[in-house]
Amino acid sequence: MQPDFHESLISQHTIQQIQSRIDIIDIVGTFVKLKKRGTNYLGLCPFHNEKTPSFTVSPTKEIYKCFGCGKSGNSISFLMDHEKYSYVEALRWLANRYNVEIEETAVSPEVKLQQQVADSLYILNDYASKFFIQQLHETEDGTDIGLSYLKERGFSDHIIEKFQLGYAPRGGQTFSTAAIADQYNPELLLKSGLSTDRNGSIADNYRNRIVFPIHNQSGKVVGFGARVIGQADKSPKYINTPENEIYIKSRILYGSFFARQAIDRKDECLLVEGYTDVISLHQAGIENVVASGGTSLTPDQLRLIKKYTNNLTILYDGDSAGVKAALRGLDLALEEGLNVKLALIPDGEDPDSYVRKIGEVAFNKFVETHKQDFVLFQLEVALNDAGKDSQKKSVVVHQIAETLSKMNRPEDFIRRQDYITLVSQRLRINEDGLIELINKQVREKINKPHQGSKVFQEAPGLEIPGSDSVASPETIHLLDEDERQEQAVIRALLDFGLKMYHSETVADFIFRELEENELTFNNQALENILRKYKEMYASGLEPTVKDFLYLEDRDISSLVIQVMEVQTEISPRWQEMYNEKIPTREDMYMNEMETSIIYFKLRKVKRLILENQKEMEEAPEEELFERVAIHQQLKQAEMQLTRSLGTVILK
Ligand code: CTP
Ligand code: MN
Repeated sequence: MQPDFHESLISQHTIQQIQSRIDIIDIVGTFVKLKKRGTNYLGLCPFHNEKTPSFTVSPTKEIYKCFGCGKSGNSISFLMDHEKYSYVEALRWLANRYNVEIEETAVSPEVKLQQQVADSLYILNDYASKFFIQQLHETEDGTDIGLSYLKERGFSDHIIEKFQLGYAPRGGQTFSTAAIADQYNPELLLKSGLSTDRNGSIADNYRNRIVFPIHNQSGKVVGFGARVIGQADKSPKYINTPENEIYIKSRILYGSFFARQAIDRKDECLLVEGYTDVISLHQAGIENVVASGGTSLTPDQLRLIKKYTNNLTILYDGDSAGVKAALRGLDLALEEGLNVKLALIPDGEDPDSYVRKIGEVAFNKFVETHKQDFVLFQLEVALNDAGKDSQKKSVVVHQIAETLSKMNRPEDFIRRQDYITLVSQRLRINEDGLIELINKQVREKINKPHQGSKVFQEAPGLEIPGSDSVASPETIHLLDEDERQEQAVIRALLDFGLKMYHSETVADFIFRELEENELTFNNQALENILRKYKEMYASGLEPTVKDFLYLEDRDISSLVIQVMEVQTEISPRWQEMYNEKIPTREDMYMNEMETSIIYFKLRKVKRLILENQKEMEEAPEEELFERVAIHQQLKQAEMQLTRSLGTVILK
């Protein structure tokens, strides 16, 4: 997630070389103990707890699948999920493992310049961080002022070292002078925020302060927060790095580098406001914690959290401005499907002071017993504000409907229904009335073209079925069915696209059928695979499953994996015994593909019938005859298609 300016610059040639050397047994085997079982390998799934192994790795298909938890992927996605690497980090790991030299693609001069600046900033920050550490421990001011302040606050040597805390000296130019003597250029010093321009000369930006380095996901220093020692009187309490090529505040969560494993392990991320909160909690042994810096959470930060867990628990002090700020990020968190809880730290305390006061065990217990659902918390706060004013109360009802309407991914429906029950009880309103309000919000969103995903604009069926709802369970069912049929076509294409089918290839057949009948896919990712296949095929290449397996787009690669399922292979002996009676994969898939194409045609005919019917209702008398004729033709086509589906029954 951190902006790494090497992203996507690895050349296609290098990627191909890496792909050709990938040995999934070797890669997964580095982290999971595997045993050979037939053509596949079996081990204990690293993604969920199990006692009997159901994690299967197929060396021929180059994929893994756990039959316990359903997790599946390829070598690259294994590294991304298990080691929390980005796509590019995973490629680099593999390149290193298989001795592939990384070739970077040529980039535009602007991008190149940006990379150079970024690289220089990383180097400078690393230099500065070491400088401040050395100042803290090896100078008189450092120990007398800096270190003694940290000790007084109760920070241990170990934690000071772990978080690489440092001290910026009083002198006013000590750092800048040293950096310039070590060949760092003044322009870069200004950009990094380590130095400032004071009356035309370069001076230190942090003076007599404790320095907290801020690390990105991979542990590189991207910036600093520098705190005054003792009380802040005239000068600001913290001076932070200005935005530059590597310090992009909206993408940074302080502490994420140190927290990632603990978050994964506990399947929960604690969010606090400040640097000192993170550090103190760590010192107390609570390591699944990151800080936002007191501002509202940004989409990038939420996505960063979501990479590790779906459970976010916010620990703020009740009267801090931070709670209000965090509230602002809530709807976004719900849209992302995060489970948000909140525990308010008692008045006058923050997580740092509170954990010191009561210790790890009591602190954990406090969080466990005090964390409340964020949506319901928001409701309480709003109701409190509204008091007895019924007009204000009605505003609250609308607000909560708006919030719940954001919870609109199919997998969140049950959760939303639970909220509806709880909220209507609390507000003492009718559940149906609330559902109606939520549906109204959803509809308004559908009608606003560029809001929400494409699926939502096309699928009013995703509303909750209720009194005033246009939704019906059938519509939802049909959506799943569409996707299933679209997948079947892609499966046949990827697996058998180049094989002959009557007098043409399977690929030719599919493309021709789709084009002639103007049939399109609903699922964007599947449509992308189709398009990419077509491009490659048209340019004379012979696309195979593996061309799609290692693409950066996870939607595509996981679809491809779904398509190629690790399956129990039929033993040759069985094959012999039952000879032609066992349908082969090919038979099955081709059948499926034919059915799907008919299904698409049928879907289209049904739509045309509906459209024609509508026209009929409004058509002037002289057109009616023509409309009826069209209707009959369409009905005829519908019947034929239904018949050719044979035994396949469609709703
Ligand atoms: N913050 C900031 N700039 C400020 C004040 C605060 O960037 N002028 C951010 C910092 O990330 C800080 C967080 O907001 O860590 C919380 O602020 P505060 O509670 O005031 O600071 P603490 O880190 O708790 O510091 P301390 O415990 O030393 O008072
Ligand atoms: Mn504090």
